[in-house]
Amino acid sequence: MAHNTTEFNSKLLEYFNEMLSVENAAIDRIQTRIEECPIQEGKQRLKQHLDETIGQQNRLREIITKYGGNYTDSKAHLSTPKPPATELMKKTIKDTVKSVTADTDNPLPEEMELIRTKEDAILEHAEIIGYKMVMQLAERAGAQEVIPALKQSLQEEQSMADWIMDNTPAILDQLWPKIQSAGTISK
Ligand SMILES: [Fe+2]
Repeated sequence: MAHNTTEFNSKLLEYFNEMLSVENAAIDRIQTRIEECPIQEGKQRLKQHLDETIGQQNRLREIITKYGGNYTDSKAHLSTPKPPATELMKKTIKDTVKSVTADTDNPLPEEMELIRTKEDAILEHAEIIGYKMVMQLAERAGAQEVIPALKQSLQEEQSMADWIMDNTPAILDQLWPKIQSAGTISK
């Protein structure tokens, strides 16, 4: 496999910057999540992951600089699946549950937290995929020396994703009773 090394490296740099823009956006999101997360253990774990994410940003910046590139400050748009017709429970419910179409004025905080937790897990898995891909590309480009740093970031993402899934039962213990009672229609 013969590549033009210079060309390939500039492409690789783009992919590193892509990954960095994901981490840049992740910082903002995690900061917001730390503020809004009502579950203490979740808040603590998010704080730890904020520190890890800062480390991940630094690793990518170092790699990009080492390869003669300019690292980006841009922020990726973090996307998660958006169901077309999620009906959010309202905070104040009268005797019947009204069908609320895309109304997020006064959502039930427990349901919002459940949605955000799902998004957290999806976004961590997106980062896992991103690191696995960029590691394979680095190997193909003969840039073996960057693999250990990327692997460390990958392990941190994996550990965060595992934490969310391992703790989902405990998180649901706190969130589901409220959601369940809000969704119960008394006849
Ligand atoms: Fe992450």
